[in-house]
Amino acid sequence: MLSFELLATDSSSHARRGRLTLNHGVVETPIFMPVGTYGTVKGVMPRSLHEMGAQIILGNTFHLWMRPGLDVIQSFEGLHGFENWQKPILTDSGGFQVWSLGEMRKISEEGVKFASPVNGDKLFLTPEISMQVQTTLNSDIVMQFDECTPYETKGKITTEREARTSMELSLRWAKRCQAEFARLENPNALFGIVQGGMFEHLRQESLEALVEMDFPGYAIGGVSVGEPKEDMQRITAHSPHRLPANKPRYLMGVGTPEDLVYGVQHGVDMFDCVMPTRNARNGHLFTRFGDLKIRNARHKTDHKPIDESCTCHACAGSSGVSWQDGGREGFSRAYLHHLERCGEMLAPMLATVHNLHYYLQLMQEVRDALEANAFSEFMARFHTERARGV
Ligand code: GUN
Ligand code: ZN
Repeated sequence: MLSFELLATDSSSHARRGRLTLNHGVVETPIFMPVGTYGTVKGVMPRSLHEMGAQIILGNTFHLWMRPGLDVIQSFEGLHGFENWQKPILTDSGGFQVWSLGEMRKISEEGVKFASPVNGDKLFLTPEISMQVQTTLNSDIVMQFDECTPYETKGKITTEREARTSMELSLRWAKRCQAEFARLENPNALFGIVQGGMFEHLRQESLEALVEMDFPGYAIGGVSVGEPKEDMQRITAHSPHRLPANKPRYLMGVGTPEDLVYGVQHGVDMFDCVMPTRNARNGHLFTRFGDLKIRNARHKTDHKPIDESCTCHACAGSSGVSWQDGGREGFSRAYLHHLERCGEMLAPMLATVHNLHYYLQLMQEVRDALEANAFSEFMARFHTERARGV
């Protein structure tokens, strides 16, 4: 089940404010979806995700199929019960993850053969198996099994012919996914994925064929695959607004805060990216006033929080009121710097909470601006503040 309602549209861009209703709840768009590959957003408890305003999180077909395997997840009646998160979940199909294996895989019309990175077992993933796995996971949004067209292979940039072959294979797989999804009577929503590499006319063909198949939502894939920024922006600008206005649009695997705002401007409703969580684990913090490397020696004696305007648990604490006499909520840069230097696990945990809070808050501000018909003003302020420096 899925319904999508447009609540407001910006008059000077393709940006829109929407509301997506899924089997496990409502998602206000534009939205950022934290990545939880193995059934956990690394280092964050579901309760914290809820408190920082996460409305939907990701999981991964490929990883969960290999570990713990479907029997275990089936015994919990799906991924929600297993990971104890009752709000919506979107699962990626495995197409991108198999692609990331590089040399270790072999693609044919039927599907992808590869050696399990866990135990070396020979595995075969097909559009049908991806639908069967995602049906067992019972994710609210199921992604089609696709081939993510690479930007280059061994230093050679993908040609138009190669991009066409790949895009057409993804279209045939989209049809097979749709048939299997229907046969399984999956009660959730299946999204098609636009491919076509760096070629606008191929993307146009891909999206027209997918729209013809009438999916309840559409994703844009094959972006942020190693291409220069200009290409990424050109491709992001091409597709979203050409998709049906009454269906949600999801830009896969993107990106920086600037990339998200750019995507919204061009009509994207949903984003996911490992950047806030992965970068957090490397001491890279995103803030309203630019990015900050907490390992840098200049933070060693700094009593300020990461960002004074941030209301996350790391910066301001859970309530703003201390739970202990003489204590305060939140932590200083000096303390985070120290934890990071000592390899303490609280360092990546606090950094992850802060980064996710920032991304989710950014999307909240985008939604507020769209409702107030003030998206241009929002964009101007966003860029000025991000350039200010922390
Ligand atoms: N994640 C990022 N890009 C892609 C893509 O092109 N396809 C899939 N399935 N997942 C992605
Ligand atoms: Zn913070």
